[in-house]
Amino acid sequence: MSEFILGIESSCDDTSIGIANGRQIMANVTANQDIHREFGGVVPELASRAHQQNIIPVLKAALTKAKIQPNQLAAIAFTSGPGLLGSLLVGTSFAKSLAMALNIPLIEVNHMQAHILAHFIEQPGRQSPDFPFLCLTVSGGHTQIVKVKGHFDYELLGQTIDDAAGEAFDKSAKIMGLPYPGGPMIDQKAKSGDPSKFKFAKPKVEGYDFSFSGLKTSILYFLQKQMKLNPKFIEENEADLCASIQYTIVNILMTNLVRAAKDHNISQIAIAGGVSANSELRATLENLALINNWQIFIPDFEYCTDNGAMIAITGHYKYQLQQFSGINTVASARRHLTSS
Ligand code: KG4
Ligand code: ZN
Repeated sequence: MSEFILGIESSCDDTSIGIANGRQIMANVTANQDIHREFGGVVPELASRAHQQNIIPVLKAALTKAKIQPNQLAAIAFTSGPGLLGSLLVGTSFAKSLAMALNIPLIEVNHMQAHILAHFIEQPGRQSPDFPFLCLTVSGGHTQIVKVKGHFDYELLGQTIDDAAGEAFDKSAKIMGLPYPGGPMIDQKAKSGDPSKFKFAKPKVEGYDFSFSGLKTSILYFLQKQMKLNPKFIEENEADLCASIQYTIVNILMTNLVRAAKDHNISQIAIAGGVSANSELRATLENLALINNWQIFIPDFEYCTDNGAMIAITGHYKYQLQQFSGINTVASARRHLTSS
């Protein structure tokens, strides 16, 4: 029997709506907001406004793609946090209205849990991980290593104490004068560079936590010094700089991941979030999998970045548990991984 769950994602700058039928995704439609590019980062007020413009066309497109009518939906799932409050409020209010109009259950979803549960979306030729597994979630807003013991049973092993991994890419790119978002640009330019050419300081952080703000400062001071000696330094060394920065970020991430896997005796390793598109990260992970006998899990890119499908699949698991929300539920910018 069909059980269509609609998933609404609006926590940052992507308006995305997915429709799940069990673990199968019938539609995953995303409207990206190019407007932020000219400001070199996401502008919260513009993001909320764009969500308001995009959300109805995205819903219509998702229903058309899935070839269903609104009255066939079983429940409405939506991201209630963490994220930008103004953006979350658009999705939350829209989800409530839709659930009330259709008289179906409302399901609030923790965005960080959804990134993890994206690994359970049915994809041809791909297996989902077994419990327990480790998930490294790396994006513009998050950097976490999570021990996943069940669909809703998590242990947060480590997280960033300042910038997220994606921010480390984006801010480094900005210092070099590259456009936003800098992650894909650094990845591209690094392909022809030497990763060992420049060395940047690595953070000293306790446990499995991360820190990237020191790296940003170290890149800034290094470039300022070099530019005084040679104003064309960045231009002449662009590929090597990109490769060295990328190598450093990936190395910081992987050092903790390897340690966490060894200490917890876990060999199933998953990654999620926009930064998991990074080619150096993927190559290093594949290499580490061979060395450490890991089984690795990387969802398709459309399910790695912020997307409605991951909200819909999380909605599917919550629907099975009948974990519904009241109409008075509120969005919150800050939400711990383990809160519903
Ligand atoms: O998951 P995502 O789409 O949105 C959130 O931030 O939640 O992640 C966006 C981040 C940006 O910081 C972007 O620069 C980074 O992912 N990113 C990459 C690559 N593609 C996207 N970073 C490094 N290499 C890439 N190929
Ligand atoms: Zn995200």
